[in-house]
Amino acid sequence: MAKSDLAKAKNGKNDEFYTQYHDIENEINAYLEYDPNVFKGKTILLPCDDPEWSNFTKFFAQNFQRLKIKKLISTSFAHESKNIKSNYQPTLFETNDPQFDRKKTIVNGKIFTLEKDKTGDGKIDVNDLEWQYLNGDGDFRSEEIKKLRDESDIIITNPPFSLFRDFLAWIVEANKKFVIIGNMNAITYKEVFPLIKDDKMWTGSRFNKRLNGKNMTFLVPDNYALSGTEVELNNEGKKMISVAGTGWFTNLDHGIRHQFLPLMTMGDNIKFSKHKEIKGQEYKKYDNYDAIEIPYTDAIPSDYDGVMGVPISFLPKYNHEQFEIVALGIGEGNFTPTKKYAKFRDPKTKKIISDKRDFLLYVKDEDGKYLTADDYIVNKVYARILIKHKK
Ligand SMILES: C[S@@+](CC[C@H](N)C(=O)[O-])C[C@H]1O[C@@H](n2cnc3c(N)ncnc32)[C@H](O)[C@@H]1O
Repeated sequence: MAKSDLAKAKNGKNDEFYTQYHDIENEINAYLEYDPNVFKGKTILLPCDDPEWSNFTKFFAQNFQRLKIKKLISTSFAHESKNIKSNYQPTLFETNDPQFDRKKTIVNGKIFTLEKDKTGDGKIDVNDLEWQYLNGDGDFRSEEIKKLRDESDIIITNPPFSLFRDFLAWIVEANKKFVIIGNMNAITYKEVFPLIKDDKMWTGSRFNKRLNGKNMTFLVPDNYALSGTEVELNNEGKKMISVAGTGWFTNLDHGIRHQFLPLMTMGDNIKFSKHKEIKGQEYKKYDNYDAIEIPYTDAIPSDYDGVMGVPISFLPKYNHEQFEIVALGIGEGNFTPTKKYAKFRDPKTKKIISDKRDFLLYVKDEDGKYLTADDYIVNKVYARILIKHKK
């Protein structure tokens, strides 16, 4: 394999993860519970899909009438353009169709649309889907797909992992509603955090949540090299992978977003907390930022008026009526909280001068200046979201 192909395959390793039907159904139900008419009269676009067998297309086609959708559009990305090549075989559905084209099936994307009762059986469902080849490869950044984006009201998909930032920016620039799958790490991206802070995007119903002991699980191509503990074969022998920290991002409203987090006072936390870092201890203040460190979301004190640094896993519990997000504590301004496993080396001798396993933020050198990242090695830097109670 050429070097650039290898790099492409590495970056795109997680791009071919396919979403399970029940995950889509459960998530969409959360929006419907909150507003039964959320999809009524809407044009829904499912980009980066493989409509012939995608569960997104299947779910929305099957529920087209129940959700009162106006139009469903689903597009796929050409086999030839994918980062990871699998043994591509066009489906019988395609090869049996008079418009089947041996070349186009590899280099063109496809578009599926659902709008009317084509079969005349009195209902609109999967059987009424119409399809054709796209002019291009179905890249969401192409003019052809941008036009479909602009025509639609809500964009729903599991986008390619390696292009998450670009995909989100592509939605935001067109000011569309969306429900998309992403990873918790995305919260700290400089393009993503401001959207969360400004209440233009939030976590969906399921985010970084284990169900029946499992993280969100996806189907992967047959030739995907399985490794690690979170991989398995399903009962049809298909390869599956569970991914920690994954879930849905959206700007559609849902109930969990309005639930208040039950909290204890600072005094009660110190008395009763189940965490040894809190029980019988003081809440620590950062050296270089006027905020206290909260190592666990359930240790947020109900009666602290100032700024608090919480782990990013707080986000699925974030209720904007209860809290305000102040900033992100990672590489922003002077504030980079570090926690645990920090090794600080003497800038001159390079000897380890401190290998503390406790909480620590910045270490000052003998002149009272904070050591910079060049002066020490930090094995792990934890991001913090800085929040405040709303009055
Ligand atoms: C994570 S998979 C999800 C597929 C499907 N939406 C699902 O959830 O089952 C992302 C898909 O996007 C495709 N893709 C990769 N780069 C793309 C691009 N630039 N434009 C459109 N699709 C792309 C991948 O080939 C893959 O099929």
